[in-house]
Amino acid sequence: MAKILGIESSCDETAAAVVEDRCHVLSSVIASQDDIHAKYGGIVPELASRRHLECIGPIVTEALERAGTTAAGIDAIAVTCGPGLVGPLLVGVCVAKAMAWQLGIPLIAVNHLEGHVRSPFLEHPEIELPAIALVVSGGHTALYLCPEEGVYRMVSRTRDDAAGEAFDKVARLLGLPFPGGPVIDRIAEGANEHAIDFPRAVMKNQSLDFSFSGLKTAVRNRAMADGLAHGAAAEAETSPAVRDLVASFQRTVVESLVDTTLRACRREGVTTVLVAGGVACNRRLRRAFVEAAAAHGLAVFMPSPRFTTDNAAMIAAAGFLHFERGEFAPLDVNADPNWKLGT
Ligand code: KG4
Ligand code: ZN
Repeated sequence: MAKILGIESSCDETAAAVVEDRCHVLSSVIASQDDIHAKYGGIVPELASRRHLECIGPIVTEALERAGTTAAGIDAIAVTCGPGLVGPLLVGVCVAKAMAWQLGIPLIAVNHLEGHVRSPFLEHPEIELPAIALVVSGGHTALYLCPEEGVYRMVSRTRDDAAGEAFDKVARLLGLPFPGGPVIDRIAEGANEHAIDFPRAVMKNQSLDFSFSGLKTAVRNRAMADGLAHGAAAEAETSPAVRDLVASFQRTVVESLVDTTLRACRREGVTTVLVAGGVACNRRLRRAFVEAAAAHGLAVFMPSPRFTTDNAAMIAAAGFLHFERGEFAPLDVNADPNWKLGT
């Protein structure tokens, strides 16, 4: 039974995990940096790198301890090499290289997006391919066709903002705390999501691409007109007008994500859907996918929240695919901030 240590540091979470035999998560430890970035309303790369440096040693140690093992009990190390912020990526990559060299075990370079796509398999190893995977996070919004294990074909992507980025920017505009997604999710619950009809981007030529910047501008214009921009956080969270505004925004994003995913399924003749990335935590989105699954006869898989936002268990899970094929990285492998997934 092989054990892989996963390491993730591509953005603002320092994470390590030990996964055994593809999907048994023996430990998954995550140190979030929301506290240090919150006052800037977004991620500050230099601060993120420094915090990763401080945290990574203790996080790896804790992941090994919680898994009831030691470094000597690990068979390979899987690390996120991209895409992401170069400084933060380098911290994880350097630690992984040093450990692999010292322990004399294989190093596996994992694409962060492949990690997200593989995250539903941690809890559902029975998932059968082909599948359409929606990766919806703070940095990415894209649909992939996964015809077989380890093969990814990009079907569409966002032309501007990622969905999570739109959540974060709308929250910031309204004076809500960072990261905006979880706050909007919470305060939109029970509000009137039909209060405002925001326009949805319509793409030409049957394109399945996403676009959220027009919606973001429409939200800004409405917030300005209604005097809701840049309010105080505590007031904004309880204001009925703000809650209706963000609920209407959230509904528009969710409808766009679900409708486009359904169109991709029809076009590719696929009935299995994977939904991954931080925004897949969103309760309104999850409900919409459950309803869509029932209405259209689809099998939809969404990981539990702890495997949805950035974590290292998903990196180890993706690492297993490469481990089984003997696809190992050289010890001089570098971080690649713009690494694309698939073709
Ligand atoms: O996957 P992730 O942890 O990091 C990236 O790879 O980007 O995703 C973080 C993003 C942030 O934009 C955050 O606001 C969003 O996911 N997010 C949510 C929710 N939880 C996190 N968006 C909407 N609803 C949520 N419940
Ligand atoms: Zn991510």
